[in-house]
Amino acid sequence: MSVTLEKIVNLCKRRGIIFPGSEIYGGLANSYDFGRLGTEIKNNIKKLWWKMFVQERPDIVGLDADLIMNSRVWEASGHVQNFNDELIECKKCHSRFRADELAHEICPNCKGTEFTSAQAFNTMFKTNLGPVESPDNKVYFRPETAQSMFVDFPAIVETSRMKIPFGIAQIGKAFRNEITPGNFIFRKREFEMMEIEYFVQEKDWQKYFEHWENEMKRWITAVGIDAKLIEFVDVPEGERAHYSKRTVDVEFKYPFGQRELYGLAYRTDFDLKAHGIEYRDPVTGEKFIPHVIEPSLGVERTVLAILLSCYEEIKGGRTKTTESVKEEEIVLRLPKEIAPIKVAILPLSKKENLTKVAHDIRNELAKQWMVDYDETASIGKRYRRQDEIGTPYCVTVDFESLEDKKVTVRDRDSMKQERVAIAELKSYFDGKLD
Ligand code: GAP
Repeated sequence: MSVTLEKIVNLCKRRGIIFPGSEIYGGLANSYDFGRLGTEIKNNIKKLWWKMFVQERPDIVGLDADLIMNSRVWEASGHVQNFNDELIECKKCHSRFRADELAHEICPNCKGTEFTSAQAFNTMFKTNLGPVESPDNKVYFRPETAQSMFVDFPAIVETSRMKIPFGIAQIGKAFRNEITPGNFIFRKREFEMMEIEYFVQEKDWQKYFEHWENEMKRWITAVGIDAKLIEFVDVPEGERAHYSKRTVDVEFKYPFGQRELYGLAYRTDFDLKAHGIEYRDPVTGEKFIPHVIEPSLGVERTVLAILLSCYEEIKGGRTKTTESVKEEEIVLRLPKEIAPIKVAILPLSKKENLTKVAHDIRNELAKQWMVDYDETASIGKRYRRQDEIGTPYCVTVDFESLEDKKVTVRDRDSMKQERVAIAELKSYFDGKLD
């Protein structure tokens, strides 16, 4: 991969896609805020996921649960006991590190070489419910969205009349007190997950595991991640989460190495059993505990993998303009569904008769899509501004538009330009954007 993480971070900051959180107070370790364009990208990812896996499938229903749950949930699920990282402490400066991540046993802080033995550190964030801090009202911010889909399973079966095999899907925030957050938005302490718990009979688990491997491949292509940078890796026993009998990590080749992008786990009947939940087959009356296949996707890692996959730099530029382009030109080849802005409206001059037509077009198209309006700088510069945020189409309003009531539509990828009647613009884009 030729693109560096630094280039992505710079583009994100410069264009307000993603920037450091709490920056005026010196920031906060690995807190990042999604700006105007980043918010759109994130929303588009979540919308596409929901469309592919909830809207279009008869066998999956959605859930939006509270993220603070009764603490007994996390005791039963094994998270209080097992959701740990192994920590070692430098005896000289008392900095703490993940035992599996410290290279060469040298403290990166003070170069000390003596460490304590590894100690378990639970990475769930804790707080107290109500005004009094006491062990009785200690609660946890959820470290995964999954548990509410298990705990609400009986209510969902009863109210939706779903029959096994079926799934529950949820998108929402999760919190982990990571010891070493880092690599931009790769490892955060607060992040969003898109998870499905798919309930099956035990005898069918392998069939559905394979089904979800294929569904994850379909998703990766649809969302704009380069499949050539992906590897499905079986996680060996001993390295899997406490609830899993088989896990496949979907790994991505980031500039900082090949790491986990998504996870697919066979959670067996571990969770429903732990919560004492059974299922009764409505036809046979047979009672049993369903088994679970879980595709689990992080939204921030999806954003990062898409940006890395779609970023292209063209030396010397590709836009034909009267000015010569000396610097590199960036094109973000995002799928149209994911692009934050679908159409940019660019009047060729700031003269009022042109900007009025351009504003009218903007207002009409904005009823259906996210659009941008830009009347500053040369047209070449404005095309480049749109290319680097991945806008699929630019509409140029020129003086001829006043006569022939047509505008020029430019395609981001082919750079082909087409004259389209203003009256037909909406139906023109209807055929190209969803
Ligand atoms: N319910 C299963 C589960 O929580 P996980 O592998 O721990 O599995 C699922 O997390 C996904 O969440 C990961 O594959 C990754 O995409 C994302 N993720 C996990 N920790 C993260 C972090 N600290 N920052 C950003 N994303 C994270």
